[in-house]
Amino acid sequence: MGRAFVYVILGGGVAAGYAALEFSKRGVPPGELCIISEEPVPPYERPALSKGFLLPEAPARLPSFHTCVGANEERLTPKWYKEHGIELVLNTRVKSADVRRKTLITATGETISFKILIIATGARALKLEEFGVEGSNAENVCYLRDLNDATRLVEVMQSRMAGNAVVIGGGYIGMECAASLVINGLKVTMVFPEAHCMARLFTPKIAEFYESYYEAKGVRFVKGNVLTSFENDSEGKIKGVILKDGTRLPADLVVVGIGIRPNTELFGGQLTLEKGGIKVNARMQTPSNASIYAIGDVATFPVKLFGSNRRLEHVDSARRSARHAVSAILSPDKTGEFDYLPFFYSRVFALSWQFYGDNVGEVAHFGDFAGGRFGAYWVDKGRLVGSFYEGGNREEYVVIAEATRVRPEVADLDELGRLGLEFAFRF
Ligand code: FDA
Ligand code: NAD
Repeated sequence: MGRAFVYVILGGGVAAGYAALEFSKRGVPPGELCIISEEPVPPYERPALSKGFLLPEAPARLPSFHTCVGANEERLTPKWYKEHGIELVLNTRVKSADVRRKTLITATGETISFKILIIATGARALKLEEFGVEGSNAENVCYLRDLNDATRLVEVMQSRMAGNAVVIGGGYIGMECAASLVINGLKVTMVFPEAHCMARLFTPKIAEFYESYYEAKGVRFVKGNVLTSFENDSEGKIKGVILKDGTRLPADLVVVGIGIRPNTELFGGQLTLEKGGIKVNARMQTPSNASIYAIGDVATFPVKLFGSNRRLEHVDSARRSARHAVSAILSPDKTGEFDYLPFFYSRVFALSWQFYGDNVGEVAHFGDFAGGRFGAYWVDKGRLVGSFYEGGNREEYVVIAEATRVRPEVADLDELGRLGLEFAFRF
């Protein structure tokens, strides 16, 4: 039993959706492209799951956030795939891959063969069990990676209104879910091992702004601490969490966001891995096999601007790497090297920030921290390499992005801080 396609996209997330749109724009003939996804629905904008999907009123629900609405492009509903002759193989886990023979085998035993494979398997949430904590499969402990997780989180949240929520992890999921839980009326405590929230990106000064804002909304922070065990009731549900220093926090609901692991296992021993991802060149093509491409969270690609290979875990990178790979496949002579400026953003409560580039080197803060319109520049080896801004408008975000791309020389960090946005407007 088997099917054969010219192009197969393995994984049905953000990158897959944007790749499908690019294939159709470039006129792929019906029947040549297939997307295989473990999920029951076609690709959707995953960022909605920790934002609009969790709102108590008028929450976002499919089909409203199928890709590619996040980039103001066409919305690819199941009907769209049908009309464009793109085969959707949903609810289907691929359990093995043979890159030399160009075949994939699904959990039901079907063989799907390809001429070109685009790996878009993304990543999965790390589990507390991987850190030696047992019991996170309880009914009221939630992770958040896909639609099933988000649906479950909404159910648990709605059955615990006004209850105590403990959020484990101070990264993106922790911050966005904590805000959503507050909006839903829960009492929230955030627990994380670092000295401040968003430690991978924020400086202590930036973090202080968000932590004060969250505290004013009723969120409590427990920093420099980790969960060591759960306390269960007689039905096996969690009623509290115990931290490393012995503190007990009551919990009607626990949300865990402690990072992700890229889904590379199918290709171990077959493709080169780097920085936890599948190594690709500036065409998003694996160096060991010219028929295999990787895009999105699972791909480690050269970021020209930094002169190093990176694996990024953000939606803009997923969208753009997808488009680039399809362009490299269908128009090889017209496609240059992927020249990507990393872009991260978040929206919580009434706040909204954007970051471009790299957060290495020295930092100059600027703007009005008390008024909620402020930013930071990162300067490495005498050049601007990263820019952050909270509360900006479209034009301001465009200029900090452009300035970061130009990598201007910076002679005086204090002067840079004094100039603030004015500096970026020069480029
Ligand atoms: P993605 O995870 O989207 O898709 C992978 C797909 O592959 C899934 O459908 C999975 O089921 C499938 N798959 C994996 N293995 C398979 C197998 N063996 N067989 C079949 N199918 C398989 N970023 C950002 O910049 N701004 C934001 O606001 C947010 N917000 C946000 C919220 C939440 C809740 C999450 C979880 C993530 C974000 N992100 C984000 C990150 C962003 O969503 C992420 O970078 C992209 O979804 C990555 O897209 P990919 O297509 O690479 O993976
Ligand atoms: P993350 O890497 O942003 O944060 C992980 C956090 O887990 C760390 O900040 C740390 O506080 C905590 N941590 C690590 N080990 C721990 C342990 N043993 N016990 C307790 N805490 C621990 O990852 P995340 O928040 O889980 O997000 C998952 C993925 O989703 C990431 O790829 C992220 O980029 C993506 N995401 C992005 C956005 C966005 O870009 N706005 C929003 C949501 C999710």
